[in-house]
Amino acid sequence: MEKVINLNMPSSSDGMSRIDGRLKVTGAAKYSAEYTVEGLTYGVLVGSTITNGTITSMDTKAAEHAPGVLAVVTHLNAPKVPGFQPDPSKPAPKKGPLKIFDDNKIVYNGQPIALVIADTYERALYGASLVKAQYNKEPHQTSLQESIGKGYPPHGDGLYKRGTEDAWKLAPFKVEQEYIVSTNTHNPMELHAIIARWDADDKLTVWDKTQGVKATQNDVARLFKIPVHNVQVNSKFVGGAFGSALRTWPHEVAAIVGAKVVKRPVKLVLSRADMFTSVGYRPYTWQKIAIGATADGKLTGITHEAYGQTSAYENFTEGTVRVSLNTYACPNVNTKYNLVSLNVGTPTWMRGPGEATGAFALESALDELSYDLKLDPIELRLRNYAEVDPESGKPYSSKFLNEAYQMGADHIGWKERKQEPGAVKKDGWFVGYGMGGGMFGAYRDGATVKATMMTDGRLILQTAVSDIGPGTGTAMVLIAAEKMGIPADKITFENGESDLPDAPMQGGSGTTSSVGSAVHDACAELKQKFQKLIGNGDTDNPDYVQVLKQHNLPLLEVTTKSNGGDERKNYSMNSWSVHFVRVLVNAATGVVKIDKVASVADSGHIVSPKTARSQVVGGAIGGIGMALMEESIIDHRYGRYINNNFADYHVPVNADIPQIDALFVNKPDPYINPMGAKGMAEIALIGMAAAVANAVYNASGKRVRELPITPDKVMA
Ligand code: MOS
Repeated sequence: MEKVINLNMPSSSDGMSRIDGRLKVTGAAKYSAEYTVEGLTYGVLVGSTITNGTITSMDTKAAEHAPGVLAVVTHLNAPKVPGFQPDPSKPAPKKGPLKIFDDNKIVYNGQPIALVIADTYERALYGASLVKAQYNKEPHQTSLQESIGKGYPPHGDGLYKRGTEDAWKLAPFKVEQEYIVSTNTHNPMELHAIIARWDADDKLTVWDKTQGVKATQNDVARLFKIPVHNVQVNSKFVGGAFGSALRTWPHEVAAIVGAKVVKRPVKLVLSRADMFTSVGYRPYTWQKIAIGATADGKLTGITHEAYGQTSAYENFTEGTVRVSLNTYACPNVNTKYNLVSLNVGTPTWMRGPGEATGAFALESALDELSYDLKLDPIELRLRNYAEVDPESGKPYSSKFLNEAYQMGADHIGWKERKQEPGAVKKDGWFVGYGMGGGMFGAYRDGATVKATMMTDGRLILQTAVSDIGPGTGTAMVLIAAEKMGIPADKITFENGESDLPDAPMQGGSGTTSSVGSAVHDACAELKQKFQKLIGNGDTDNPDYVQVLKQHNLPLLEVTTKSNGGDERKNYSMNSWSVHFVRVLVNAATGVVKIDKVASVADSGHIVSPKTARSQVVGGAIGGIGMALMEESIIDHRYGRYINNNFADYHVPVNADIPQIDALFVNKPDPYINPMGAKGMAEIALIGMAAAVANAVYNASGKRVRELPITPDKVMA
């Protein structure tokens, strides 16, 4: 009997398994650090021990003479990276990416000051321990709280206004509160790693962890001033990234420079500690939000300001305050977004970038308002439900968030929730319910796919896109199987190499939409080619093998570029989520246990039920980490991270995670792409931290406005 898949709540056994699952669990999938390259050498980075200042001298002799060491690369001897050198025809930019080994300036603790290359990893590591530097130390600042007065707008005046400014002040019901999101560091299982090999003076191959092989290829070509097609970037498997591999980082440049110096390939794998200083993080952000409402719960004004940290050398910005512009219908909104420049590395996008931080404040503040109004938090949101985009005035391409509210409320047992905080106690634990919503733009970018039908009936799909773990290949195969009318196990998906057809980076929840459309269109075109050959456009699914044989063809192929049309001009396209959480809060210790989660996504048609479920479960777990555990802590006296390891930087483990119901409205978006599928990676996390905080309040009466919600804050 055929199994019926409940697309509204797929279980872990519903739908097709990952096409690369077996490769991954057997270790056959090769990650960047695992390639065997002839003549390979090993690089280890040495980080600065001061936080601000200059290097006055370096002692590399001992390292150079250590067994097996081939080179110690520093700013004193590194070959110049052409792309780092100022263009004399242009004014020197005030800010820009860190130029590794370009000069003696130190702007953050752990900044790479040397790369030791040896014939084995262990010898490189030992060599690195022998590198000594003398510094001229200058005062540093790593605390946003202490420097908030030095905030500055990254663009223009950093202000936004619609309607009346600070209208919330005139409302009969209002909340005004401050919220803090601590620094979160992406800690994917796979460490960032690169193998760099120069094949000629102007020709380079890298095996590199990246969310975009084409972007890395372009960056490297520009930095080393070599032709783009002379750079080959391979990233066939990526063991998670969450945004940390969305740009080219200094360690990648270091490995490429190092390979030039030793004239052999260099492998550089960041240590877990390096991950805290080398590949970005979700920035520590202080927010103040004020909301005004009428007695019947209509929002009259939102004022939202945010100060996010950035490095001394680059402005990293994200849409933290944007959530207040467009999540709910509210006539009067004004926001302010500022950065604070600190002696830290540059932050970067981390799952739900900006929105995840902003939604913690907005969804917490709304929860606070709901208690003032004595109104159910879902009801408060329904009373301010945006039927059109409140910012642009455009209709939504699709929005079924109201159905998502209902589905989640049913699954968590929302009717058991008591409006009175601290009202339910069982065996020494307070029991409480909370919810929080998320929203993220639903994007579609241009992408190209080559589809080839072989005489053995195999269909090969090729595109450069990275698959960092969400199951992109699986979704692409499912789209092709449906379009071609052939079984999925006849389809091969090849990706993650820069010589494959162009595809965007895997980011912003856009891959299924962008690359999936290209797969869809390529398959449609290929099928048409077959139909033309047999002179019958009516044959729904031709016998591809037979047609190839009849026409004596070894294969039939198409390369198809797919772009969205003008739909985006007319519609506001977004994905929505709502997260429901039941927590237990220990009355004696303040420990918070997640008891049950129901996360609902309004993300259009579900292409791949099993991997979609994993995406939503993973996002919820990331949100639980953000809510309860994750915090990269700097000892501000030294400006140095003190919990840069998995013992001290806590992420949720199996024992922390209860039953998570991943639910989908599963209604296609008619405008975004041929599949009707919208993204779900970001919304799977956005709003989750607030749902947990709101549940903690409902359980215990303790409102924690600074993440993570550790027991000391619950007890305070
Ligand atoms: Mo994601 S932050 O777009 O990798």
